[in-house]
Amino acid sequence: MSDTVAAVDWEEHEDEAQSAIAGAATPAELEEARVRYLGRKSELAQALRAVRDRETGMTLNSLRDRLETAVETRRNELERAELDRALTQEVVDVTLPGDELPLGHLHPITQTRRQIEDAFLGLGYEIRDDREVETAEYNFDKLAFDPWHPARSHRATFFFDEGRLLRTETSPSQIHALEEGEPPIYMVSIGRCYRRDAIDATHYPIFHQFEGLAVDRRITLADLKGTLLHVMRAIFGPERRVRFRTHYFPFTEPSIEPDVSCFLCEGRGCPVCKHSGWLEMGGSGMVDPTLYEFVGLDTEEWSGFAFGCGIERVAQLHYDFPDIRALWEGDLRVLTQF
Ligand code: DAH
Repeated sequence: MSDTVAAVDWEEHEDEAQSAIAGAATPAELEEARVRYLGRKSELAQALRAVRDRETGMTLNSLRDRLETAVETRRNELERAELDRALTQEVVDVTLPGDELPLGHLHPITQTRRQIEDAFLGLGYEIRDDREVETAEYNFDKLAFDPWHPARSHRATFFFDEGRLLRTETSPSQIHALEEGEPPIYMVSIGRCYRRDAIDATHYPIFHQFEGLAVDRRITLADLKGTLLHVMRAIFGPERRVRFRTHYFPFTEPSIEPDVSCFLCEGRGCPVCKHSGWLEMGGSGMVDPTLYEFVGLDTEEWSGFAFGCGIERVAQLHYDFPDIRALWEGDLRVLTQF
């Protein structure tokens, strides 16, 4: 072994190693040079293992130190060069638009509700938000429902006890508005209502209504018609017409059901309007004087009209929504379409 050590010209060997290290252009080349000149099987390592005399040992140890330092220096240089390259080439362009975050949007019922609110705010109406837990007194008695009216049945309405229930309509707001304020009153009440309805494509036990009440001097049926025409046009387009059919509600006299001309077929007849050219839009009428008597208003001086309509129905027509159940299921694949 010592022959091998003696045979190597270590100065020449160092020159060769130093230029291999300094000439390494990549970390892989540098690693190759390190293994070759400093690795376990390198001539230097073998010589160090075989060395017997102190002087040669010191010479070879300091040669190893110098080569190790050279490898370290070159490694730092290569790393810095790589960093410089990355900093210039892999620059982040802060002016590029970022990835778009998926934004939510309003539920179709909320959109419809706001559209209705806007139409009434434009007419100077006040928007009310009344209680969903009502008393039978406000939901039925003060609205002149007969004691035998089927809506009072526990099978039709969600009762908590004899006196308290989930409101079946927004009409109790009429009484609250009359009791709380002095005429002239122009209000719209919007919110949830509840009925024990079997679920199908157009019915759900929870639904929304908007309810209007206008009480002033010399209010006539023509005012009701004009108001509904304005609102229906705001919702379904400027070409819409409104017509009335006689009906019965306990708290209006006369009671009338408004229809709006079908916006899908322009009144010519289509499956949505059942080929009649008209769409039914809830109930309305002139406020029955009995209600004014309940709240102590002079029926000679004041008159008014009221109307109520389901928001789901408006939304279904407006967005061409085939099944009301989708409004409650929260399925984003459906809701994001509206
Ligand atoms: N509350 C009635 C219903 O749910 C709708 C209604 C009819 C409201 C006539 C009114 C009205 O304000 O005047 O069927």
